[in-house]
Order: sequence, then C-alpha cells, then structure tokens
Amino acid sequence: MSKQSVAWKLGTWRGIHSSLFLLGVLCIFILVATFSKLYSFRSLLIAETFCNPENTHRSQPRTRIQAKETLEIVIQKIHREIEELQRNSSLSSLSSSTSKYNSFLADILGLIESVQESLPDMQELNETRHFLGHKQPFYDPEDHFLIEEIRKYVRVKPNRLGKQNFMGANGTFTSIGHGCFAAKKELEEYMEYDVGEICDDDWKLAQKLMVHGCDPLPRRRCFSRAPKLYTKPLPIDESIWKLPDDRNVRWSQYKCKNFACLACNSTRKGFFKCANCFDLENHEFPRWVRRQNPDPGANLTADFLAHEVLDVKPGEIRIGLDFSVGTGTFAARMREFNVTIVTATINFGAPFSEMIALRGLVPLYLTINQRLPFFDNTLDLIHTTRFLDGWIDFVLLDFVLYDWDRVLRPGGLLWIDSFFCVKEDLDDYLESFRMLRYKKHKWVVVPKLDKDDREVFFSAVLEKPPRPFR
Ligand SMILES: *[C@@H]1O[C@H](CO)[C@@H](O)[C@H](O)[C@H]1NC(C)=O
Ligand SMILES: *[C@@H]1O[C@H](CO)[C@@H](O)[C@H](O)[C@H]1NC(C)=O
Ligand SMILES: *[C@@H]1O[C@H](CO)[C@@H](O)[C@H](O)[C@H]1NC(C)=O
Ligand SMILES: *[C@@H]1O[C@H](CO)[C@@H](O)[C@H](O)[C@H]1NC(C)=O
Ligand SMILES: *[C@@H]1O[C@H](CO)[C@@H](O)[C@H](O)[C@H]1NC(C)=O
Ligand SMILES: *[C@@H]1O[C@H](CO)[C@@H](O)[C@H](O)[C@H]1NC(C)=O
Repeated sequence: MSKQSVAWKLGTWRGIHSSLFLLGVLCIFILVATFSKLYSFRSLLIAETFCNPENTHRSQPRTRIQAKETLEIVIQKIHREIEELQRNSSLSSLSSSTSKYNSFLADILGLIESVQESLPDMQELNETRHFLGHKQPFYDPEDHFLIEEIRKYVRVKPNRLGKQNFMGANGTFTSIGHGCFAAKKELEEYMEYDVGEICDDDWKLAQKLMVHGCDPLPRRRCFSRAPKLYTKPLPIDESIWKLPDDRNVRWSQYKCKNFACLACNSTRKGFFKCANCFDLENHEFPRWVRRQNPDPGANLTADFLAHEVLDVKPGEIRIGLDFSVGTGTFAARMREFNVTIVTATINFGAPFSEMIALRGLVPLYLTINQRLPFFDNTLDLIHTTRFLDGWIDFVLLDFVLYDWDRVLRPGGLLWIDSFFCVKEDLDDYLESFRMLRYKKHKWVVVPKLDKDDREVFFSAVLEKPPRPFR
C-alpha cells in the first residue's frame, strides 16, 4: 500500500468521523430544540401569558405546528442520507465506518420518529374551530390539564345532531377563568373526585381559587357536602332579625363554631371587617334607621338613613344590589321599604352566604373579579359599604364603576356608603366617582375620627343620568 493511499484512506476515515460527529451534534441540537419548543418552552409560554399581555394564547399551536414541520424536514433529510448511503454501498463494498454511520442514522431516525408520533396529528393541530366564525387555531385550555374532569369540562361541546341550538350556537363553550392556568395544581386537586360521589369538604379551596382569578370555576359532577342535620329555616317574620340555627352551617373551616361566637365581639374570631355584623340586635338593627353619630356635637356623619335616600326617588326604587361586607342587613332594612335587594358576598372568615340565606334574603356568591350577572339598565339601586375602601386599585375601581353604571337603569341610584381612604388619596378617588357624571343628591366627606385624623369617610347618593350625554 502506498503512503499516499494510506493517507487518503486516513483522510476519508477522518472525514467520515468528523461528518459523523457533526451530524450527531446537529441531531442532538435539533432534538433538544424540538423538545424545548414542545415542552419547557410551552410552559414558559403559558407562564408568560399572565405577565405579558402582548403574548396571545395563539402562539401555542403555532409553535407546535412549527415544531412538527421541523421534525418532518429532519426526518426527510435523514431518510435521503440513508438512501444515498445504501446506494453508494451497493456500488462499492461496505466499509465498517459507513455501516456504523448507517446504523447511527437509523438510530437517530427511530428516536425522532417516536417523538413525532407522540405529537397530535397535523390535521388535528391545524383544525380550525368555528367559534363565532373566527377561523384561527386558538390555545386549547384542555392541553394544559391532566385531570380528565377538567379536560372534559373545558372541551367545546358540539350540539347533538350537528345543528344550531335555539340560542344560535353550534356548541356549548364552558369556560374557566384564566387564573385557573396559574393555579393548575390547586384546580387539579379541586377537580379530582369520583363522578357521582360526595365531594370533599373543599369549598374553601374553591373560594381561594375564585379569589385568585380562577373565576369562573369549572362545575363539578359530585354532590356537595351539606350540614349533617339541616333544620328547616325560621319563618320569614322571625328569620330576618334572629341568629339562625347553628346546625344549618358547616363550621369546619371557620374559627367560630356557632353564630353566638361570631356575634360576641370579645371573641374576635370572625372577619375583622365585619366584627359586629353578626350582632343583629345591638349593632345591626339600628342601621340606616337611627343615626349612629359618634360625636353628636360635631354633627358630622357619613351615614344616610334609608328613608332619606329613598325619598330622592319616591316609589321608584324597587330592586337593587348591595355590594358590601356584611350579613345582609341592608337587604333586610330595604325589605321593610318593599325594596328587593340581593347581597353580593363571599364567605370570608364567616358563613356570610348561609347567614344571609337563613335570614330569608338572597345571597349572591360573587367575587370582585367578575362582571355583574345583570343585564344593562336593569337595577334601581346599587349600595356599597366597607368594600371598596382605600385598598382598591384605581383602574380596577374604574372597571367596577363602569360595570355598576352598566347595570343601573337611567334614573337609578348609586349609594356610596362610608367609603374610606387616607386623605391624600381622596381627590383621586373622588375623581373616579365624578367621572360617572351622575347627578349629586348627597355628597359628604367627613374625617374618620378613630385613626389620628389621617383617614376620611366619603358618602354620596348619585343618580345615573339618561344616555347619551349629548
Ligand atoms: C455517495 O457517493 C458519491 C459519489 O460516489 C459521493 O459524492 C457521496 O458523498 C456519497 N454519499 C455518502 C453518503 O457517502
Ligand atoms: C393548515 O391550514 C392551512 C390554512 O387553513 C392550510 O393552508 C394548510 O395546508 C393546512 N395544513 C395541514 C397540514 O392541514
Ligand atoms: C354553525 O354550523 C353551520 C353549519 O354546520 C355553519 O354554517 C355555521 O357557520 C356555524 N356557525 C358558527 C357560528 O360557527
Ligand atoms: C360590643 O362592643 C361594643 C363597643 O364596641 C359594646 O358597646 C357592646 O356592648 C358590645 N357587645 C357585646 C355583646 O359584648
Ligand atoms: C347638622 O346637620 C344638618 C344636616 O346635615 C344641618 O341641617 C344642620 O345645620 C347641622 N347643624 C350644625 C350645628 O352644624
Ligand atoms: C310595603 O308593602 C305593603 C304591602 O303592599 C304595604 O302595606 C306597606 O305599607 C309597604 N311599606 C312601605 C314602607 O311602603
């Protein structure tokens, strides 16, 4: 063998080695890129969606389609290479290096094809869903969850018989709040139950999910727990001003285990914002009929009486909403004036919903996260106290006020009752209320006397004008 041919052979050997090495690196790189695109990048994407409003849900299937297409190209390239290799080797005798190269390629090909098979069908990915006729693929919430009940719930349910239903929709679109995606673990815990069995005693987990933006929550197919011995509620003429039967509430998740504990102001086991509101007799009964003036000499009060407000629109106020922290006393009071009020509440630290219902009033289990479940221009009155206060973000307050405006009818009243905030913020908050351009029937700002004069109370009765303004 001449030196030259040895050198030539060595050269090819090295060439094949380096091309083998290069190809291996390339394949690994592509695999890693594909995997990260599919999995880790996918979870990154989902996480980002919550911080970055620019990032739309739609990037998800597009990424997957791209990944799938890339895989397709890689597979085709490797196939071509193997075919060429085999053609070459049928011409000349098969050297050990090329056969090694060949098996290496076959190996890689097998791996990539198994990844490709684990992906959903291209047709499936590309499927255009006709939701209101928008023909783009959109992020499918089902992909995000492993628990079958969640997947079943969020799946679009086409109508049977393939026809539109009486509401003009081709299917039913059961939705969940986007906060559910961030609270995946908790939601999966919540939705892990046996269909048809009794649910866990987990209303508190449900409420936590709702408060943190998983609102609406999915429905469930298990039976909610009830108190062991439910006694029939008191008749309406007694129930309104009496503490209900303790047995009609499940107490397991509260510090207090009965209503007497909540009503006693020395225990302080209820919700601090409403420490006295179970004390129906002393604290609640006089509300909105007797002035509770802390300092009669000062003649300063942010409390309006019920008849003073109703007299603004005599005989016109019939239905309304109370968005407050409390046990429904506002609704109880207004009932005496033949006004029907529903009370929005959640069970924060005490069984507010049960208490309101047992008093014979309507509790609306609702967080601040949601658009009100009323149609435009329908309610005569919205009352709010101890709820918005100085903690609320200005933009949120704006959204809330516009929503309240939406449901109030023209000529309806917005009663802001003892809204409080620090003095420095007052002007900004007042600006939010002025923005509504309502007619001012009452408007007072008084110092809040208990906190070294730093806070103020604001109360107002405002009337929604007819629209449009101009
Ligand atoms: C196959 O043979 C041709 C010419 O003989 C060469 O150019 C090509 O690189 C060979 N392909 C492989 C994969 O070895
Ligand atoms: C996906 O949809 C687009 C446009 O609707 C179409 O052009 C493309 O051929 C489809 N691809 C597959 C694989 O179905
Ligand atoms: C509902 O389905 C019909 C036919 O099946 C289709 O023509 C129509 O565009 C669909 N409507 C919507 C809103 O997707
Ligand atoms: C609760 O506290 C108030 C003062 O904050 C007091 O006037 C009232 O008597 C107390 N009620 C009970 C039942 O202890
Ligand atoms: C007290 O308030 C009432 C109504 O808010 C007002 O008519 C009256 O003049 C006030 N009295 C004093 C002494 O400020
Ligand atoms: C409420 O309605 C009842 C029965 O219709 C009536 O007798 C009563 O006077 C009304 N109360 C008020 C405050 O209007």
